[in-house]
Amino acid sequence: MWRTRRRIIALSVAGVLLVLAGSYLTYRERDNFFCVACHTQPETEYLDRYLRAAQKQTTADLAAFHYRQAQTLCIDCHGGEGVAGRALVELFAARNASKFFTGIARQPAVIELPLQNEACLKCHAPAMRKLGFENHMHNKPFIEPERVPFIRCSDCHVSHRLGDERTAFQFRDAILPKCEYCHATVGKGPRGLVP
Ligand code: HEC
Ligand code: HEC
Ligand code: HEC
Ligand code: HEC
Ligand code: HEC
Repeated sequence: MWRTRRRIIALSVAGVLLVLAGSYLTYRERDNFFCVACHTQPETEYLDRYLRAAQKQTTADLAAFHYRQAQTLCIDCHGGEGVAGRALVELFAARNASKFFTGIARQPAVIELPLQNEACLKCHAPAMRKLGFENHMHNKPFIEPERVPFIRCSDCHVSHRLGDERTAFQFRDAILPKCEYCHATVGKGPRGLVP
């Protein structure tokens, strides 16, 4: 009898702690400094770029550009979208924290959960749906429901690479293979863009 009661108490305590930990983390994750608290280079550098971007006219990478233009937080891009996306990120965050506290974390960190396009679309959907050939690399999946392959926004828009704000952080070596990939898959549009 007392064993069952003790188990129930232990379970309720654990439950309360879990909820508290969860809401504490949800609160803290909106803090860019918290994100890099247990990260080392190069991720601490990502935050430095944020801080420099706030003061300067030029920004070093696409993420810092977002911070200056729109106060975009780390979590705005990395939070996971939808119920499943969110849950997956939280699962990984719990695992990452336990790896950190047991000293077996990989640094630099490696992307395991690629960013969902929805993370970008929640802010950029109107621009993606703009009509016209000029925007066809974006609007194909939305406007002409042609069977085009799935491509990640982040494949073309690399976010933490040093780049040039004046060219909107476009990297030919990231973008052209993806143009080519779509053209080759649908069998239309120019090939041979990549030397
Ligand atoms: C408690 C420590 C800790 C905090 C706080 C933390 N991280 Fe991490 N994170 C880690 C560790 C450790 C890894 C690497 C795990 C591994 O692969 O060994 C990691 C990996 C990552 C990765 C790559 C893996 C993936 O999910 O694809 C990203 C992106 C990331 N963190 C972003 C963030 C962001 C954004 C925040 C703030 C909301 C944050 N982290 C807060 C410890 C932390
Ligand atoms: C919280 C909203 C938000 C999120 C999330 C977001 N963006 Fe943005 N993005 C903006 C705003 C605001 C601008 C600035 C528009 C401007 O200044 O002209 C911008 C600008 C850009 C630009 C243009 C840069 C330029 O010089 O005009 C690109 C490219 C871009 N975002 C890609 C992305 C990608 C890819 C993702 C997902 C990984 C993403 N954004 C996520 C709000 C967001
Ligand atoms: C095949 C590569 C590729 C993919 C995939 C891609 N983009 Fe782009 N994106 C580009 C190029 C190239 C430009 C510059 C276009 C120009 O200068 O007119 C651009 C420009 C932009 C801009 C700034 C210009 C504008 O119209 O406001 C935003 C924002 C943007 N992309 C967001 C996204 C988002 C969000 C996704 C995912 C849904 C995405 N992109 C997927 C190649 C790509
Ligand atoms: C505009 C969206 C955006 C913002 C804002 C952003 N990231 Fe990222 N992040 C990405 C994308 C996309 C990747 C995947 C690799 C790439 O494209 O550069 C990534 C990759 C990462 C990784 C994996 C390791 C690596 O270097 O690729 C870590 C860790 C990370 N980001 C941390 C952060 C931290 C910390 C902040 C805030 C200081 C932040 N990110 C802000 C989009 C963003
Ligand atoms: C999602 C698939 C997809 C992506 C990504 C894509 N294209 Fe295309 N592209 C097409 C299709 C399909 C056509 C054939 C014409 C059409 O249906 O609009 C085409 C045609 C073209 C044409 C020839 C136009 C003509 O008159 O025949 C050019 C040039 C072109 N694309 C350049 C690019 C560049 C540069 C990029 C990368 C920034 C890119 N495309 C990304 C699907 C794509």
